[in-house]
Amino acid sequence: MIEQDRPSGAGGCTAVVGLQWGDEGKGKIVDLLAGEHDAVVRYNGGANAGHTVVVGDEKYALHLVPSGILYPGVLAVVGNGVVVDPEKLLEEIDGLEARGVCTDSLVVSSRAHVVAPYHKLEDEVRERLLSCGGGGDGGGVAIGTTKRGIGPCYADKAQRSSAIRVGDLLRPDVLREKLETACRFKRTRLVDIEVGDDLDPAILTERLAAVGERLRPRVTDTTYLLHELLGEGKRILFEGGNATLLDVDHGTYPFVTSSNCTALGISTGTGVPGRRLDRVVGILKAYSTRVGAGPMPTELDDETGELLRSRGNEYGTTTGRPRRCGWLDLVAARYSVMVNGVTEVALMLFDVLTGFDELKICTAYEVAGADGGAGERTARFLPDAVDLERVAPVYETLAGFGEEITGARQWTDLPTKARGYVEFVEAFLGVPVSIVSVGPGREQTLVG
Ligand code: IMP
Repeated sequence: MIEQDRPSGAGGCTAVVGLQWGDEGKGKIVDLLAGEHDAVVRYNGGANAGHTVVVGDEKYALHLVPSGILYPGVLAVVGNGVVVDPEKLLEEIDGLEARGVCTDSLVVSSRAHVVAPYHKLEDEVRERLLSCGGGGDGGGVAIGTTKRGIGPCYADKAQRSSAIRVGDLLRPDVLREKLETACRFKRTRLVDIEVGDDLDPAILTERLAAVGERLRPRVTDTTYLLHELLGEGKRILFEGGNATLLDVDHGTYPFVTSSNCTALGISTGTGVPGRRLDRVVGILKAYSTRVGAGPMPTELDDETGELLRSRGNEYGTTTGRPRRCGWLDLVAARYSVMVNGVTEVALMLFDVLTGFDELKICTAYEVAGADGGAGERTARFLPDAVDLERVAPVYETLAGFGEEITGARQWTDLPTKARGYVEFVEAFLGVPVSIVSVGPGREQTLVG
């Protein structure tokens, strides 16, 4: 773990991005860094993301609200690249307020797109049609989405004519007109299913306009707001939702989400150019997990995978689904470091690795030959799912450590073998591991 010579100068912008398939513990690190920043900004994804933050005895599961909300005085910004389910957002705001968390500092971009009830229906129907035995023809493979309407909403954003943005919620006439068009389109697709009121423009207008009214004081042009902050030398933290290997362009397509989750998404998702970033913190779980379908080279379908799941409590924050578990894949992580321009890594859930006799780390792939015969070895990640499905992991085996490390508070508290694991990761990735997390609490964090 390399000691960081990091200026805490004003004007610094930081990005926090997941380097795997999500659930790396980004929420904890955003929470940790929020106090050093003036604003925390979400730039992609929506209520599919789930960030867990533990403060004292309190546990918060946030989906749309930036994790910085838990720091008084820090502005929490939902940028234009986010897809906002306005009813879910209000639910989250009300839930936080009920627990005594002030949410006055939360603002939402007027240009963020709205996830409407029919987007969730579409998500559900698409998944059903794609899954074998689910009423579909078995011609495709379901992605295993969170069914939060994310893909259909981003699709409408690209298609334009049936899209609704947060600013439209404040203009009932415009909203009604747009909903008429949207519902007309959706009716041609959502046949043979129970749609209830979800395709009734009058009812939807009333419902969404009411939510818009409640959100009105928070709706603004966040691009100008962020540039004003930058002009004042304020520090901004960008909180990536989902993770690099789920990025629609750079992830394991098509088993990805529908947004740019990498640091590359910050520019389009907020209007702040990438050159403003001083620090890109890559969040890396000490092992691998994945929810939903798609290739995962180091997945363990055995008792070791089961042990990682139970020790790491690997069940989805958003859907509660058990996560697929396996050893750390450094081929994938090195790719993610490259794509994001990561300047330092936070190694998370390290305590989960206590008690294994040996620890394996994937450092290369064996790619099966086209005829299924002997293949060749590569150190490259293969982001296309069809290619990644054909690889087998090549492992290095490191000594395990038996000691509980949840009480460690500094680097030197870690047993030698545990430090060896961190040093191996650092050397392979070529960037410093500046943070090691040994438990969910704020105090269970070793900072270099
Ligand atoms: P969607 O984002 O709901 O469309 O789901 C697409 C894929 O991304 C599915 O495999 C989801 O399980 C996965 N996914 C989306 N968001 C997250 C996240 O925050 N953590 C982990 N997996 C996610």
